[in-house]
Amino acid sequence: MKEKVFVFAALPYVNSSLHLGHIAGAYLPYDVFRRFLKLRGYDVISTSGSDEHGTPITVKSIREGIPPEEIVEKYHKLNLEIFRKMNIEFDAYIETSSELHKEITSKFLVTLKNKDYIYEAEMTQPFCVKENIFLADRYVKGKCPYCGYEEATGDQCENCGRTLEPGELIDPLCIFDLTTPEFRQTKHLFFRLSKLQEDLEKYIDSRANWRQNVLNFTRNFISGGLKDRPITRDLNWGVDVPFPGYENKKIYVWFEALIGYITGVSTVLDSQEDALAMWKNPNLRYYHFVGKDNIVFHSIIWPGMLLAHGNMILPYFVAANEFLNFRGEKFSKSKGTGFSMIQLLERYDPEFIRFGVLYNLPEEHDADFTIEEFENRVNTELIDKFGNFVNRALILAFKKGPISIDQIAQNDLDTEAENRIRNSIATIIKEMDGVHIRNAFRAWLELAYYGNSYITNRKPWEQCKRDDANCNAAIYTGVKIVFALAVSGQMFLPATSKKILSWLGYEEQVELKDDLGFPVSRITSKPDKLFEKIVSNTINLRLQIAQVKEVDDHPNAEKLYLLDLDLGDSNRRIVSGIKGSYSKEALKGKKIVVVTNLKPASIRGETSNGMLLAAEDEQGIHLVLAPESAKNGEDVKIGELQTDPSEISIEKFRKLVIKTARRGSDIVPALFINEKQLFLEISNGSLILDGSPGEGLVIK
Ligand code: 2FM
Ligand code: ZN
Repeated sequence: MKEKVFVFAALPYVNSSLHLGHIAGAYLPYDVFRRFLKLRGYDVISTSGSDEHGTPITVKSIREGIPPEEIVEKYHKLNLEIFRKMNIEFDAYIETSSELHKEITSKFLVTLKNKDYIYEAEMTQPFCVKENIFLADRYVKGKCPYCGYEEATGDQCENCGRTLEPGELIDPLCIFDLTTPEFRQTKHLFFRLSKLQEDLEKYIDSRANWRQNVLNFTRNFISGGLKDRPITRDLNWGVDVPFPGYENKKIYVWFEALIGYITGVSTVLDSQEDALAMWKNPNLRYYHFVGKDNIVFHSIIWPGMLLAHGNMILPYFVAANEFLNFRGEKFSKSKGTGFSMIQLLERYDPEFIRFGVLYNLPEEHDADFTIEEFENRVNTELIDKFGNFVNRALILAFKKGPISIDQIAQNDLDTEAENRIRNSIATIIKEMDGVHIRNAFRAWLELAYYGNSYITNRKPWEQCKRDDANCNAAIYTGVKIVFALAVSGQMFLPATSKKILSWLGYEEQVELKDDLGFPVSRITSKPDKLFEKIVSNTINLRLQIAQVKEVDDHPNAEKLYLLDLDLGDSNRRIVSGIKGSYSKEALKGKKIVVVTNLKPASIRGETSNGMLLAAEDEQGIHLVLAPESAKNGEDVKIGELQTDPSEISIEKFRKLVIKTARRGSDIVPALFINEKQLFLEISNGSLILDGSPGEGLVIK
């Protein structure tokens, strides 16, 4: 066993359950990295836990009228369930409200006080007269003095990521009653961070291997000069302060949550003394995986606390990703953008989610996530390429039965494949060593693509008809690529890799060595299909009811009308070619169905903001009509599908198959996907086709 390594993931606040942004930002990279180190033979301890104190929790508790204990238990359990399903594992997952954590925090604070790193001082804090409380951290909001964001809170600006003091906010307000607070004197304990400026500068200067985003945030914070920081709060929910005179205060949540890493290791080792001793071992290395908004706490405050404690090894690496955006917007529970993990796990195989996140890992830059792209990638890259290759290679090998090494005659393609495997594994290991998880994953994926084209070019099914040794070589090499993918894939897609390795006769984890070696093909059980394709539940098409208000002739085209439509809370104009079949009078007042997410197009110099639905036969055009009772602007439902309303091009729209279909005695519009017929429906009444044309006509 190689040396000891700790891998930590930030302790999430349990005021809500995790969303995909959290998983992409910290937890999946954490899990991939700890698996990597284990596969490389390191002695790993990896922990995280629930951050259960502070105003993020109490705000939720007050707003929902539920005691904080209940809030934290609820989300602690939910998060554990999410991690379990996602195969994100921890050697210990602590709770900061535990007795052990309180004890360890208390001792840590006493040590710092004994070393004169803690002192008492008066400070001014916002005080809400109406509520009769001091407004700590998130109890006060206002404008960020740095970026002008209006909804910054007294601890941090969500927009620019800077840490703030309540007193810095412009136009501060109490979040409970929106009154302007007074500033009053109160006494608190301070951490003498200023004394550590030089040591911390030296430390940061020695971190040349850190990512640019982490270094930038850190340097920005330290360059203005480090200030001493208050580490107690006027709150009644948190860890008690172990000194007299502080009975009505608690320890600042960040100060104790960071100590949660020591609680985690102490839990794994079942000894606080052993944990602290390990932290002092000069050979120790440890890694923190954190959200972008947690950087300075891990790169400055935490190292400062450890320096003050004395002789503790500082973090070797702080990894923070950029944001995973949902249609260009940051994932945010409060704004309702993005997906909760609970929603996603109801719909998708967790391995697909791991794949989708790793494919788009926002390591150096923000990345965008859309369901459509995600489903498409899983189906075409993971299933069609990787899954298909593994399946082809293993079925061939299974059918052929055991092959011994002296029955193999490799050709140039096989030698190339051998080199390719060696190079890919070396790249994956090198990138992972540098915590470039996205690059490592891409190198892994490239090897899967390579495998797929290897089999296609090598054509073992043809060789096997005429040349046995040549056929054996193709099968042997194919399985060897599968083996390399499965071994290195254990960190990315653990469940999938486990399945493949078990077909190859391995029931235990297989170490990721520089030279993988390879047992001669031994397929011990019949491989079955690795994945089921995603049948999409979402369609990128928005149909709405619109009422025709005005009809005009197109100034430059004889056969076209300009239609002004009422969509309930908005109006829009479309250009339409139904002049041959409908008079202006016949159209006015009619309720029709319009594609409202179509990219605007200029048609003979007039902009068309959408398109109406109609079918055409030899009698002429038949509009899709809604009854008088339909509400203008109402969304038309397409079977059970969810609507993805982002803009689509006309080419993409044309690929959708909408036709007239029979429903009882009526002819109605329906969308056809994979031979399934999905009726277009509204909440009150049903859509019909004007003039009852026949079945199977295309609607466009
Ligand atoms: O941002 C958060 O969710 C914090 N609770 C992270 C804390 S990390 C560490 F201090 F444990
Ligand atoms: Zn800001």
